Amino acid sequence: MVRLAERLAPLTRNVFADMDQAKAQAAAQGVDVIDLSLGSSDLPTRPEILAVIAEALQDTRTHGYLLFHGTREFRQAAATWYEQRYGVAVDPETEVLPLIGSQEGTAHLPLAVLNPGDYAILLDPGYPSHAGGVALAGGQMHLLRLRAEQGFLPDFGQVPNEVLQRARLLVLSYPHNPTAAVADLAVMEAAVDFCRRYDLVLCHDFPYADLVFDETLPPSVLQADREKRVSIEFFSLSKSYNMGGFRLGYAIGNRELILALRRVKAVVDFNQYAGILRAGAQALLGDQTGVREMVNTFRERRDAFVAAMHRIGWQVPVPQATMYVWAPLPLAWADRSLEFCQHLVQKTGVAASPGAGFGPGGEGYVRFALVHPPARLQEAVNRMASWLGLG
Ligand SMILES: Cc1ncc(COP(=O)(O)O)c(C=O)c1O
Repeated sequence: MVRLAERLAPLTRNVFADMDQAKAQAAAQGVDVIDLSLGSSDLPTRPEILAVIAEALQDTRTHGYLLFHGTREFRQAAATWYEQRYGVAVDPETEVLPLIGSQEGTAHLPLAVLNPGDYAILLDPGYPSHAGGVALAGGQMHLLRLRAEQGFLPDFGQVPNEVLQRARLLVLSYPHNPTAAVADLAVMEAAVDFCRRYDLVLCHDFPYADLVFDETLPPSVLQADREKRVSIEFFSLSKSYNMGGFRLGYAIGNRELILALRRVKAVVDFNQYAGILRAGAQALLGDQTGVREMVNTFRERRDAFVAAMHRIGWQVPVPQATMYVWAPLPLAWADRSLEFCQHLVQKTGVAASPGAGFGPGGEGYVRFALVHPPARLQEAVNRMASWLGLG
């Protein structure tokens, strides 16, 4: 047996691996699987974005390593996007860092800010890779429980003093995966005050910045921290521009944090491919019709799925953002989200994510990702209704 590092221990077993197995078993038995378990968009990248990458492939200047911190063109596009949208001035040289997806950046950040044993304060439920990054950095986690009756928003008063004394990092992410909660500017302001008071770094993971269903845009943390004293935000092109497979995002915010993250990354990678950065700049600064179409597509799916669930008597909340429906489990399954999802895929072919996979605070729920067209979502609900004896 090879002897592996202890830091891997928290990462080796998780409920998503169990679900992958259950899905594979169902598929092997010939079940037609409707996979609603992954937040990976099924929508194609726009042709004008693909055209930039196709052209870049023929340009030999894009073929080598991209040293330092990506291209000026991409950093400038990110800064301009923030300035136009949030009215926050950003220096593209020192306050922007291209990433190989926001997941890469948020997972590397703890290496730059935590000493072994320091605490990171994370949302529970929350995106699993936030906890993974803290584990890799040898940090401890304090889970901030989010509750339905508080709109799944954080209550910073819950954090005990002994944690605060060793805490270095707070990780937020709104619109929120998995609960679909949206936070307003007051929440961001409270988070900035809290982090300034206790000398914490504020990391805001912001991949659903565009994926909201009403007219009000969710706030950037930089609107609450215009001087960028404690904050770093992570934007992704995966959701807004259906570019998940291309792996592109960026960090934006406090210059010392950007430089620190850059130092970590300098050890690990040589940046994203230049052609993808060119396409990313085009996506950010070009015509945003595709973003509106993407939002409309997910709104139609949300409406179809939620209406179908309500028809069968499963009272799920109507999400105002993200591509997820966060559904309380049927009573008979109360605190057995993994078991529920394993049986669900086996009996009906519908794959969903067990709430427990997002932390102990996710138990009692199941997450459906709306990554299929309305007819297929309706089919998924019909199958669940017959299995559960509903409707
Ligand atoms: C909260 C959150 N952060 C990060 C990611 C991954 O984004 P990226 O593709 O930019 O790595 C996701 C994807 O589902 C997410 O929900």
